[in-house]
Amino acid sequence: MITRISNGVNPLDATRGRQKQLIVGNWKMNPRTVAEARKIVSSIKAAVGSLKKTDVVVCPPSVFLGDLVVNGSTRLAFGTQNVHFEKDGAFTGEISVAMIASLKAKYVILGHSERREMGETDDLIAKKVHAALEAGLSVILCVGEKERDPECAYLDIMKSQIEASLHGIPKNMLAKLIIAYEPVWAIGAKAKGVVLPEELLETIIFIRKILSGMYDQPSAHAMKILYGGSVDENNAGSFMKEGGAAGLLVGRASVEAKKFVGILKVAESL
Ligand code: 13P
Repeated sequence: MITRISNGVNPLDATRGRQKQLIVGNWKMNPRTVAEARKIVSSIKAAVGSLKKTDVVVCPPSVFLGDLVVNGSTRLAFGTQNVHFEKDGAFTGEISVAMIASLKAKYVILGHSERREMGETDDLIAKKVHAALEAGLSVILCVGEKERDPECAYLDIMKSQIEASLHGIPKNMLAKLIIAYEPVWAIGAKAKGVVLPEELLETIIFIRKILSGMYDQPSAHAMKILYGGSVDENNAGSFMKEGGAAGLLVGRASVEAKKFVGILKVAESL
């Protein structure tokens, strides 16, 4: 199967290259108070100082962002979990890329399945990706199937998801684009299972092939592809080592400082 969709490039070289691992915490709608948020960041901050091969990003609820950035460290980057595509105006409850950038946040997670479930379409996501990249933010674009059918129709679904979410994004805007492969069935407390490292590797190769078709091979190979879905300290290494992920997008384990720091240590040890 891997050889069928491979194009002769050593998958691990193609997927990881010599770049640093990127570990991103998606806190979702957690924790409940800014005091708890500060505590988690302070533990992560204590751990990132010694990391040489791992970049770390925390994406808290944006209401905590200003406070946490001030209490963070230069070694710890911050991001948000959503953004509006317009620069400003009458959009009650929304936040703009300029607002995020003014707080010195550098990343934004877009297209997460939980937001797609709330009604976000590929069209809307493409507009957000464009706005964020144009503003100089790094975008972590989430893609992934709801289920894996034996006929592999999920691969077509994922192809159209990637193509549509990147519609109108020119090659010269790709430098700050990161893809996070997050199979919906492997996310959260109700996850049906975990992805096997060989399945992950195969999917990453498939994603690169799509990107290569949309842009070109060098652009596709340069792009970081992360994995997200039920990541913990015990399985993190296998996703990056055998699975070929350039890093991880961590949900539940990212709001438990001990577990998140454990994952950072695993990444650093690879
Ligand atoms: P969990 O790690 O809680 O499964 O969440 C994954 C995720 O959705 C990260 O964006």
